[in-house]
Amino acid sequence: MTRLVIVSNRVGVPDSGTRAGGLEVAIRPTLKRRGGMWFGWSGRITDEDPGPPKTSVHDKVSYVTVGLRKDDYEEFYNGFANRVLWPILHYRLDLAEFTRRDLGGYFRVNEYFASNLDKLLRPDDVIWVHDYHLMPLAKALRARGHQNKIGFFLHIPCPPPEILTALPNHEQLIPTLGQYDVVGFQTEVDATNICRYFVNECEFRRVGEETFDIDGRTVKVGAYPVGVETEVFARLARRAIETAFVREVLDSLSGRAMIIGVDRLDYSKGIPERMNAFERFLANYPDWRGKVTYLQITPRSRSSIPEYADIGRIVGEAVGRINGAYGEASWTPVRYINKAHSRTALAGLYRAARAALVTPLRDGMNLVAKEYVAAQNPDDPGVLILSRFAGAAQECTAALLVNPYDPEGVGQAINRALAMPLEERQRRHAHNFRVLSRNDLSHWAERFLTTLEGSDTGGAVAQPQGRAAAGR
Ligand code: F6P
Repeated sequence: MTRLVIVSNRVGVPDSGTRAGGLEVAIRPTLKRRGGMWFGWSGRITDEDPGPPKTSVHDKVSYVTVGLRKDDYEEFYNGFANRVLWPILHYRLDLAEFTRRDLGGYFRVNEYFASNLDKLLRPDDVIWVHDYHLMPLAKALRARGHQNKIGFFLHIPCPPPEILTALPNHEQLIPTLGQYDVVGFQTEVDATNICRYFVNECEFRRVGEETFDIDGRTVKVGAYPVGVETEVFARLARRAIETAFVREVLDSLSGRAMIIGVDRLDYSKGIPERMNAFERFLANYPDWRGKVTYLQITPRSRSSIPEYADIGRIVGEAVGRINGAYGEASWTPVRYINKAHSRTALAGLYRAARAALVTPLRDGMNLVAKEYVAAQNPDDPGVLILSRFAGAAQECTAALLVNPYDPEGVGQAINRALAMPLEERQRRHAHNFRVLSRNDLSHWAERFLTTLEGSDTGGAVAQPQGRAAAGR
Protein backbone atom coordinates (compact mmCIF):
# COMPACT_ATOMS: atom_id res chain seq x y z
CA MET A 1 0.00 0.00 0.00
CA THR A 2 1.20 3.54 -0.74
CA ARG A 3 2.10 5.73 2.24
CA LEU A 4 -0.59 8.07 3.55
CA VAL A 5 0.60 11.57 4.40
CA ILE A 6 -1.85 13.73 6.34
CA VAL A 7 -1.20 17.47 6.49
CA SER A 8 -3.12 19.78 8.81
CA ASN A 9 -2.40 22.86 10.88
CA ARG A 10 -2.84 21.06 14.20
CA VAL A 11 -1.25 17.67 14.77
CA GLY A 12 -2.39 15.40 17.59
CA VAL A 13 1.02 14.06 18.67
CA PRO A 14 0.29 11.38 21.31
CA ASP A 15 1.21 12.28 24.91
CA SER A 16 2.37 15.77 23.94
CA GLY A 17 -0.53 17.77 25.30
CA THR A 18 -1.17 19.17 21.79
CA ARG A 19 -4.81 19.26 20.79
CA ALA A 20 -6.45 19.25 17.41
CA GLY A 21 -10.18 19.19 18.30
CA GLY A 22 -12.71 17.70 15.91
CA LEU A 23 -10.12 17.34 13.20
CA GLU A 24 -7.97 15.10 15.38
CA VAL A 25 -11.00 12.96 16.27
CA ALA A 26 -11.56 12.45 12.55
CA ILE A 27 -7.98 11.75 11.48
CA ARG A 28 -6.38 9.72 14.23
CA PRO A 29 -8.26 6.40 13.73
CA THR A 30 -7.48 6.38 9.99
CA LEU A 31 -3.77 6.93 10.54
CA LYS A 32 -3.77 4.35 13.30
CA ARG A 33 -5.24 1.79 10.93
CA ARG A 34 -3.11 2.60 7.87
CA GLY A 35 0.09 4.00 9.34
CA GLY A 36 1.86 6.86 7.59
CA MET A 37 2.91 10.41 8.38
CA TRP A 38 1.09 13.38 9.98
CA PHE A 39 2.69 16.74 9.25
CA GLY A 40 1.80 20.17 10.64
CA TRP A 41 2.35 22.83 13.27
CA SER A 42 3.84 21.80 16.62
CA GLY A 43 1.90 24.49 18.52
CA ARG A 44 5.22 26.24 19.36
CA ILE A 45 5.63 29.96 18.66
CA THR A 46 9.21 31.25 18.49
CA ASP A 47 10.91 34.67 18.25
CA GLU A 48 13.67 33.28 16.05
CA ASP A 49 13.67 30.87 13.13
CA PRO A 50 11.93 27.72 14.48
CA GLY A 51 14.59 25.38 13.05
CA PRO A 52 14.13 22.00 11.33
CA PRO A 53 11.04 19.79 11.78
CA LYS A 54 10.85 17.43 14.77
CA THR A 55 9.83 13.82 14.26
CA SER A 56 8.43 11.33 16.73
CA VAL A 57 7.17 7.85 15.89
CA HIS A 58 4.28 6.14 17.72
CA ASP A 59 3.00 2.78 16.48
CA LYS A 60 3.15 2.97 12.69
CA VAL A 61 2.80 6.75 12.47
CA SER A 62 5.53 9.43 12.13
CA TYR A 63 4.47 12.78 13.55
CA VAL A 64 6.49 15.54 11.93
CA THR A 65 5.96 19.06 13.24
CA VAL A 66 7.38 22.52 12.64
CA GLY A 67 7.22 25.64 14.83
CA LEU A 68 5.86 29.00 13.71
CA ARG A 69 7.57 32.37 14.14
CA LYS A 70 5.57 34.97 16.06
CA ASP A 71 4.75 37.00 12.94
CA ASP A 72 3.66 33.83 11.10
CA TYR A 73 1.38 32.90 13.98
CA GLU A 74 -0.15 36.41 14.05
CA GLU A 75 -0.62 36.79 10.31
CA PHE A 76 -1.36 33.20 9.25
CA TYR A 77 -3.23 31.68 12.21
CA ASN A 78 -4.78 34.58 14.17
CA GLY A 79 -4.94 36.82 11.11
CA PHE A 80 -5.96 35.37 7.77
CA ALA A 81 -7.09 31.88 8.85
CA ASN A 82 -9.14 32.85 11.90
CA ARG A 83 -10.11 36.49 11.34
CA VAL A 84 -10.83 36.26 7.62
CA LEU A 85 -11.41 32.73 6.36
CA TRP A 86 -13.16 31.42 9.48
CA PRO A 87 -15.85 34.15 9.59
CA ILE A 88 -16.33 34.29 5.82
CA LEU A 89 -16.65 30.53 5.40
CA HIS A 90 -19.18 30.63 8.27
CA TYR A 91 -21.24 33.24 6.36
CA ARG A 92 -20.15 36.06 8.73
CA LEU A 93 -18.88 38.77 6.39
CA ASP A 94 -19.63 41.29 9.15
CA LEU A 95 -16.85 39.82 11.34
CA ALA A 96 -14.08 39.49 8.72
CA GLU A 97 -11.03 41.72 9.30
CA PHE A 98 -9.00 41.55 6.10
CA THR A 99 -5.45 42.89 5.67
CA ARG A 100 -3.05 42.26 2.81
CA ARG A 101 -0.29 41.68 5.35
CA ASP A 102 -2.20 38.72 6.82
CA LEU A 103 -2.93 37.31 3.36
CA GLY A 104 0.84 37.51 2.66
CA GLY A 105 1.52 35.68 5.94
CA TYR A 106 -0.99 32.97 4.99
CA PHE A 107 0.71 32.27 1.64
CA ARG A 108 4.15 32.48 3.32
CA VAL A 109 3.27 29.76 5.87
CA ASN A 110 1.80 27.55 3.14
CA GLU A 111 5.12 27.91 1.24
CA TYR A 112 6.99 27.10 4.47
CA PHE A 113 4.91 23.93 4.97
CA ALA A 114 5.52 22.97 1.32
CA SER A 115 9.28 23.53 1.49
CA ASN A 116 9.54 21.31 4.57
CA LEU A 117 7.32 18.64 3.04
CA ASP A 118 9.33 18.80 -0.18
CA LYS A 119 12.22 16.98 1.53
CA LEU A 120 10.01 14.34 3.14
CA LEU A 121 7.72 13.24 0.31
CA ARG A 122 8.12 10.14 -1.84
CA PRO A 123 6.76 10.04 -5.39
CA ASP A 124 4.01 7.52 -4.61
CA ASP A 125 2.80 9.07 -1.33
CA VAL A 126 -0.91 9.83 -1.19
CA ILE A 127 -1.28 13.24 0.40
CA TRP A 128 -4.44 14.33 2.23
CA VAL A 129 -4.55 18.00 3.23
CA HIS A 130 -7.08 19.19 5.82
CA ASP A 131 -8.94 22.41 6.38
CA TYR A 132 -8.99 26.10 5.62
CA HIS A 133 -5.48 26.88 6.86
CA LEU A 134 -3.90 25.04 3.93
CA MET A 135 -5.98 25.67 0.81
CA PRO A 136 -3.03 26.67 -1.45
CA LEU A 137 -0.72 23.85 -0.31
CA ALA A 138 -1.22 21.69 -3.41
CA LYS A 139 -0.25 24.62 -5.62
CA ALA A 140 2.93 25.13 -3.57
CA LEU A 141 3.76 21.40 -3.82
CA ARG A 142 3.02 21.20 -7.56
CA ALA A 143 5.33 24.19 -8.09
CA ARG A 144 8.07 22.05 -6.50
CA GLY A 145 7.38 19.30 -9.01
CA HIS A 146 5.23 16.93 -6.92
CA GLN A 147 2.84 14.98 -9.13
CA ASN A 148 1.41 12.90 -6.26
CA LYS A 149 -2.27 12.33 -5.70
CA ILE A 150 -3.26 15.17 -3.40
CA GLY A 151 -6.69 15.50 -1.80
CA PHE A 152 -8.20 18.33 0.23
CA PHE A 153 -10.99 18.15 2.77
CA LEU A 154 -12.69 21.24 4.21
CA HIS A 155 -14.02 20.57 7.72
CA ILE A 156 -15.99 23.82 7.86
CA PRO A 157 -18.77 25.17 5.59
CA CYS A 158 -18.23 26.45 2.07
CA PRO A 159 -20.58 29.35 1.31
CA PRO A 160 -21.92 30.22 -2.15
CA PRO A 161 -19.91 32.35 -4.61
CA GLU A 162 -21.98 35.41 -3.65
CA ILE A 163 -20.19 35.27 -0.28
CA LEU A 164 -16.82 33.83 -1.38
CA THR A 165 -16.32 36.69 -3.84
CA ALA A 166 -16.58 39.22 -0.97
CA LEU A 167 -13.23 37.87 0.23
CA PRO A 168 -10.65 40.41 -1.01
CA ASN A 169 -8.22 38.69 -3.41
CA HIS A 170 -10.39 35.56 -3.52
CA GLU A 171 -9.19 35.08 -7.09
CA GLN A 172 -5.64 34.43 -5.78
CA LEU A 173 -6.78 31.84 -3.28
CA ILE A 174 -9.96 29.90 -4.05
CA PRO A 175 -8.95 28.73 -7.56
CA THR A 176 -5.84 27.08 -6.05
CA LEU A 177 -8.22 24.30 -4.94
CA GLY A 178 -8.12 23.26 -8.59
CA GLN A 179 -4.58 21.93 -7.99
CA TYR A 180 -5.92 19.02 -5.91
CA ASP A 181 -7.16 15.76 -7.41
CA VAL A 182 -10.11 15.45 -5.02
CA VAL A 183 -11.73 18.34 -3.15
CA GLY A 184 -14.08 17.12 -0.40
CA PHE A 185 -16.74 18.91 1.63
CA GLN A 186 -19.06 18.03 4.48
CA THR A 187 -22.34 18.34 2.56
CA GLU A 188 -23.73 18.41 -0.94
CA VAL A 189 -24.64 22.09 -0.45
CA ASP A 190 -20.96 22.94 0.19
CA ALA A 191 -19.85 20.90 -2.84
CA THR A 192 -22.44 22.58 -5.07
CA ASN A 193 -21.28 26.00 -3.86
CA ILE A 194 -17.66 25.41 -4.90
CA CYS A 195 -18.77 23.98 -8.25
CA ARG A 196 -20.72 27.20 -8.90
CA TYR A 197 -17.62 29.22 -7.97
CA PHE A 198 -15.41 27.10 -10.28
CA VAL A 199 -17.81 27.58 -13.18
CA ASN A 200 -18.69 31.26 -12.68
CA GLU A 201 -15.42 32.69 -11.43
CA CYS A 202 -12.73 30.41 -12.89
CA GLU A 203 -14.41 29.13 -16.04
CA PHE A 204 -12.94 25.70 -15.25
CA ARG A 205 -14.13 23.13 -17.80
CA ARG A 206 -16.88 20.99 -16.29
CA VAL A 207 -16.73 17.41 -17.59
CA GLY A 208 -19.24 15.83 -15.18
CA GLU A 209 -21.69 17.05 -12.58
CA GLU A 210 -18.92 17.50 -9.99
CA THR A 211 -15.85 16.80 -12.14
CA PHE A 212 -13.62 19.35 -13.82
CA ASP A 213 -10.78 19.23 -16.29
CA ILE A 214 -8.28 21.76 -14.95
CA ASP A 215 -4.92 22.13 -16.66
CA GLY A 216 -5.26 18.60 -18.10
CA ARG A 217 -5.91 17.16 -14.64
CA THR A 218 -9.22 15.60 -13.60
CA VAL A 219 -10.43 17.25 -10.40
CA LYS A 220 -13.30 15.65 -8.49
CA VAL A 221 -15.46 17.60 -6.08
CA GLY A 222 -17.69 15.71 -3.65
CA ALA A 223 -19.53 15.53 -0.34
CA TYR A 224 -17.91 13.28 2.27
CA PRO A 225 -19.81 13.88 5.53
CA VAL A 226 -17.40 13.17 8.38
CA GLY A 227 -18.68 10.59 10.87
CA VAL A 228 -17.85 9.42 14.37
CA GLU A 229 -16.81 5.99 15.59
CA THR A 230 -20.48 5.23 16.31
CA GLU A 231 -20.14 1.74 17.85
CA VAL A 232 -16.93 2.56 19.73
CA PHE A 233 -18.48 5.70 21.21
CA ALA A 234 -21.66 3.83 22.18
CA ARG A 235 -19.54 1.28 24.07
CA LEU A 236 -17.55 4.04 25.75
CA ALA A 237 -20.76 5.78 26.88
CA ARG A 238 -22.16 2.54 28.36
CA ARG A 239 -19.06 2.28 30.54
CA ALA A 240 -18.67 6.01 31.21
CA ILE A 241 -22.08 6.48 32.78
CA GLU A 242 -20.92 4.22 35.63
CA THR A 243 -17.84 6.32 36.44
CA ALA A 244 -17.54 8.20 39.73
CA PHE A 245 -17.44 11.52 37.86
CA VAL A 246 -20.77 11.02 36.06
CA ARG A 247 -22.41 9.59 39.17
CA GLU A 248 -21.33 12.64 41.12
CA VAL A 249 -22.80 14.98 38.48
CA LEU A 250 -26.07 13.03 38.46
CA ASP A 251 -26.27 13.04 42.26
CA SER A 252 -25.78 16.79 42.26
CA LEU A 253 -28.86 17.22 40.03
CA SER A 254 -31.13 15.75 42.74
CA GLY A 255 -33.29 13.95 40.21
CA ARG A 256 -33.68 16.94 37.84
CA ALA A 257 -33.53 16.40 34.09
CA MET A 258 -30.29 17.54 32.46
CA ILE A 259 -29.91 19.29 29.11
CA ILE A 260 -26.37 19.39 27.74
CA GLY A 261 -24.47 21.68 25.35
CA VAL A 262 -20.78 21.19 24.48
CA ASP A 263 -19.04 23.68 22.20
CA ARG A 264 -15.78 25.56 21.84
CA LEU A 265 -16.34 29.21 22.82
CA ASP A 266 -16.88 30.43 19.26
CA TYR A 267 -19.42 32.85 17.78
CA SER A 268 -20.35 30.29 15.10
CA LYS A 269 -21.79 28.01 17.80
CA GLY A 270 -24.73 30.31 18.60
CA ILE A 271 -24.29 30.11 22.38
CA PRO A 272 -25.79 33.54 23.25
CA GLU A 273 -28.78 32.77 21.01
CA ARG A 274 -29.13 29.41 22.77
CA MET A 275 -29.07 31.12 26.18
CA ASN A 276 -31.88 33.39 25.00
CA ALA A 277 -33.82 30.34 23.88
CA PHE A 278 -33.39 28.64 27.26
CA GLU A 279 -34.55 31.86 28.92
CA ARG A 280 -37.65 31.89 26.67
CA PHE A 281 -38.28 28.27 27.60
CA LEU A 282 -38.21 29.10 31.32
CA ALA A 283 -40.46 32.11 30.75
CA ASN A 284 -43.00 30.28 28.57
CA TYR A 285 -43.09 26.91 30.35
CA PRO A 286 -43.02 27.78 34.07
CA ASP A 287 -43.88 24.19 35.10
CA TRP A 288 -40.31 23.20 34.20
CA ARG A 289 -38.71 25.73 36.55
CA GLY A 290 -36.76 23.95 39.25
CA LYS A 291 -37.02 20.64 37.37
CA VAL A 292 -34.35 20.97 34.71
CA THR A 293 -30.68 21.96 34.68
CA TYR A 294 -28.85 23.08 31.56
CA LEU A 295 -25.15 22.18 31.59
CA GLN A 296 -23.09 24.13 29.04
CA ILE A 297 -19.46 22.98 28.69
CA THR A 298 -17.48 25.55 26.72
CA PRO A 299 -13.67 25.46 26.62
CA ARG A 300 -12.12 28.78 25.63
CA SER A 301 -10.66 28.98 22.15
CA ARG A 302 -8.53 31.44 20.11
CA SER A 303 -8.66 33.83 23.07
CA SER A 304 -6.23 36.39 21.65
CA ILE A 305 -8.73 37.26 18.90
CA PRO A 306 -11.05 40.13 20.01
CA GLU A 307 -14.26 38.58 18.62
CA TYR A 308 -13.63 35.53 20.83
CA ALA A 309 -13.13 37.65 23.94
CA ASP A 310 -16.40 39.45 23.09
CA ILE A 311 -18.37 36.22 22.82
CA GLY A 312 -16.98 35.06 26.19
CA ARG A 313 -18.25 38.24 27.84
CA ILE A 314 -21.67 38.03 26.16
CA VAL A 315 -22.24 34.41 27.22
CA GLY A 316 -21.07 35.08 30.78
CA GLU A 317 -23.54 37.97 31.06
CA ALA A 318 -26.42 35.90 29.68
CA VAL A 319 -25.76 33.07 32.15
CA GLY A 320 -25.66 35.55 35.04
CA ARG A 321 -28.92 37.14 33.88
CA ILE A 322 -30.80 33.82 33.62
CA ASN A 323 -29.51 32.44 36.92
CA GLY A 324 -30.27 35.76 38.62
CA ALA A 325 -33.81 35.97 37.26
CA TYR A 326 -34.91 32.34 37.61
CA GLY A 327 -32.52 30.64 40.07
CA GLU A 328 -33.39 29.62 43.61
CA ALA A 329 -31.12 29.05 46.58
CA SER A 330 -31.57 25.32 45.86
CA TRP A 331 -31.48 25.42 42.03
CA THR A 332 -29.14 26.95 39.43
CA PRO A 333 -30.82 26.83 35.98
CA VAL A 334 -27.59 27.09 33.93
CA ARG A 335 -24.26 25.56 34.85
CA TYR A 336 -21.62 27.15 32.65
CA ILE A 337 -18.12 25.66 32.59
CA ASN A 338 -15.07 26.78 30.58
CA LYS A 339 -13.02 23.63 31.23
CA ALA A 340 -12.36 20.97 28.56
CA HIS A 341 -13.57 17.48 29.57
CA SER A 342 -12.19 14.09 28.56
CA ARG A 343 -13.87 12.04 25.85
CA THR A 344 -14.97 9.52 28.50
CA ALA A 345 -16.47 12.19 30.76
CA LEU A 346 -18.40 13.67 27.81
CA ALA A 347 -19.63 10.26 26.66
CA GLY A 348 -21.07 9.60 30.13
CA LEU A 349 -22.65 13.06 30.39
CA TYR A 350 -24.23 12.70 26.94
CA ARG A 351 -25.80 9.41 27.95
CA ALA A 352 -27.11 10.95 31.17
CA ALA A 353 -28.67 14.00 29.46
CA ARG A 354 -32.37 14.01 28.56
CA ALA A 355 -31.69 16.40 25.67
CA ALA A 356 -28.76 17.99 23.86
CA LEU A 357 -28.80 21.53 22.53
CA VAL A 358 -26.62 21.67 19.41
CA THR A 359 -27.65 24.94 17.82
CA PRO A 360 -24.77 26.49 15.85
CA LEU A 361 -25.59 29.42 13.59
CA ARG A 362 -23.49 27.61 10.97
CA ASP A 363 -21.34 24.49 11.28
CA GLY A 364 -19.52 22.28 8.77
CA MET A 365 -20.71 19.07 10.46
CA ASN A 366 -20.76 19.13 14.30
CA LEU A 367 -19.51 15.92 15.84
CA VAL A 368 -21.08 16.66 19.25
CA ALA A 369 -24.48 16.04 17.65
CA LYS A 370 -23.33 12.67 16.29
CA GLU A 371 -21.59 11.62 19.50
CA TYR A 372 -24.71 12.50 21.51
CA VAL A 373 -26.77 10.15 19.32
CA ALA A 374 -24.13 7.41 19.57
CA ALA A 375 -24.01 7.71 23.38
CA GLN A 376 -27.75 7.20 24.05
CA ASN A 377 -29.32 4.19 25.69
CA PRO A 378 -31.57 2.87 22.87
CA ASP A 379 -34.19 1.74 25.41
CA ASP A 380 -34.50 5.18 26.97
CA PRO A 381 -32.80 7.68 24.67
CA GLY A 382 -32.48 11.43 25.06
CA VAL A 383 -33.54 13.86 22.34
CA LEU A 384 -31.19 15.76 20.02
CA ILE A 385 -32.22 19.37 19.35
CA LEU A 386 -30.21 20.31 16.29
CA SER A 387 -29.69 23.46 14.23
CA ARG A 388 -30.80 23.09 10.63
CA PHE A 389 -27.59 24.98 9.76
CA ALA A 390 -25.23 22.25 11.02
CA GLY A 391 -23.99 19.75 8.43
CA ALA A 392 -25.14 16.98 10.79
CA ALA A 393 -28.77 17.99 10.11
CA GLN A 394 -28.47 16.42 6.63
CA GLU A 395 -28.07 13.00 8.27
CA CYS A 396 -29.77 13.34 11.68
CA THR A 397 -33.11 14.11 10.11
CA ALA A 398 -35.00 12.53 13.03
CA ALA A 399 -33.59 15.11 15.47
CA LEU A 400 -35.78 18.06 16.45
CA LEU A 401 -34.48 20.43 13.79
CA VAL A 402 -34.58 24.10 14.79
CA ASN A 403 -33.72 27.56 13.55
CA PRO A 404 -31.10 28.86 16.03
CA TYR A 405 -32.08 32.47 15.28
CA ASP A 406 -35.61 31.82 16.63
CA PRO A 407 -35.49 31.69 20.47
CA GLU A 408 -39.26 31.02 20.79
CA GLY A 409 -38.98 28.07 18.40
CA VAL A 410 -35.94 26.60 20.17
CA GLY A 411 -37.71 27.13 23.53
CA GLN A 412 -40.68 25.16 22.18
CA ALA A 413 -38.36 22.39 20.99
CA ILE A 414 -36.83 22.13 24.50
CA ASN A 415 -40.31 21.68 25.97
CA ARG A 416 -41.18 19.11 23.30
CA ALA A 417 -37.95 17.16 23.92
CA LEU A 418 -38.46 17.00 27.68
CA ALA A 419 -42.09 15.94 27.31
CA MET A 420 -41.57 13.50 24.42
CA PRO A 421 -43.14 10.04 24.89
CA LEU A 422 -40.74 7.10 25.10
CA GLU A 423 -41.94 5.49 21.87
CA GLU A 424 -41.26 8.65 19.83
CA ARG A 425 -37.83 9.08 21.44
CA GLN A 426 -36.95 5.48 20.57
CA ARG A 427 -38.13 5.86 16.99
CA ARG A 428 -36.20 9.08 16.39
CA HIS A 429 -33.05 7.75 18.03
CA ALA A 430 -33.14 4.43 16.14
CA HIS A 431 -33.38 6.30 12.84
CA ASN A 432 -30.43 8.60 13.58
CA PHE A 433 -28.32 5.80 15.03
CA ARG A 434 -28.86 3.66 11.90
CA VAL A 435 -27.75 6.50 9.64
CA LEU A 436 -24.65 7.20 11.75
CA SER A 437 -23.71 3.53 11.90
CA ARG A 438 -23.83 3.30 8.11
CA ASN A 439 -21.67 6.41 7.65
CA ASP A 440 -19.23 6.09 10.50
CA LEU A 441 -15.74 7.51 10.63
CA SER A 442 -13.95 4.68 8.84
CA HIS A 443 -16.48 4.80 6.04
CA TRP A 444 -15.81 8.54 5.59
CA ALA A 445 -12.03 8.13 5.36
CA GLU A 446 -12.18 5.05 3.13
CA ARG A 447 -14.61 6.71 0.72
CA PHE A 448 -12.39 9.77 0.40
CA LEU A 449 -9.16 7.82 0.06
CA THR A 450 -10.63 5.34 -2.42
CA THR A 451 -11.70 8.23 -4.63
CA LEU A 452 -8.29 9.87 -4.25
CA GLU A 453 -6.31 6.70 -4.90
CA GLY A 454 -8.46 5.89 -7.91
CA SER A 455 -8.12 9.39 -9.33
CA ASP A 456 -6.32 10.13 -12.56
CA THR A 457 -3.24 12.25 -11.78
CA GLY A 458 -3.07 13.53 -15.37
CA GLY A 459 0.17 15.34 -14.86
CA ALA A 460 0.06 17.87 -17.67
CA VAL A 461 0.40 21.49 -16.58
CA ALA A 462 -1.47 23.63 -19.06
CA GLN A 463 -1.92 27.37 -19.28
CA PRO A 464 -4.43 29.12 -17.01
CA GLN A 465 -7.73 30.29 -18.45
CA GLY A 466 -10.68 32.28 -17.13
CA ARG A 467 -11.12 35.32 -14.88
CA ALA A 468 -9.94 33.98 -11.55
CA ALA A 469 -7.60 31.37 -13.00
CA ALA A 470 -4.55 33.54 -12.44
CA GLY A 471 -4.58 32.43 -8.80
CA ARG A 472 -4.12 28.74 -9.51
O1 F6P B 1 -12.41 22.37 11.53
C1 F6P B 1 -12.41 23.29 12.52
C2 F6P B 1 -11.33 22.98 13.53
O2 F6P B 1 -10.08 22.84 12.92
C3 F6P B 1 -11.67 21.73 14.35
O3 F6P B 1 -10.94 20.65 13.99
C4 F6P B 1 -11.36 22.09 15.75
O4 F6P B 1 -12.43 21.78 16.57
C5 F6P B 1 -11.14 23.56 15.75
O5 F6P B 1 -11.26 24.05 14.44
C6 F6P B 1 -9.81 23.87 16.36
O6 F6P B 1 -9.46 25.17 16.23
P1 F6P B 1 -7.99 25.67 16.54
O7 F6P B 1 -7.04 24.75 15.86
O8 F6P B 1 -7.96 27.06 16.01
O9 F6P B 1 -7.86 25.61 18.02
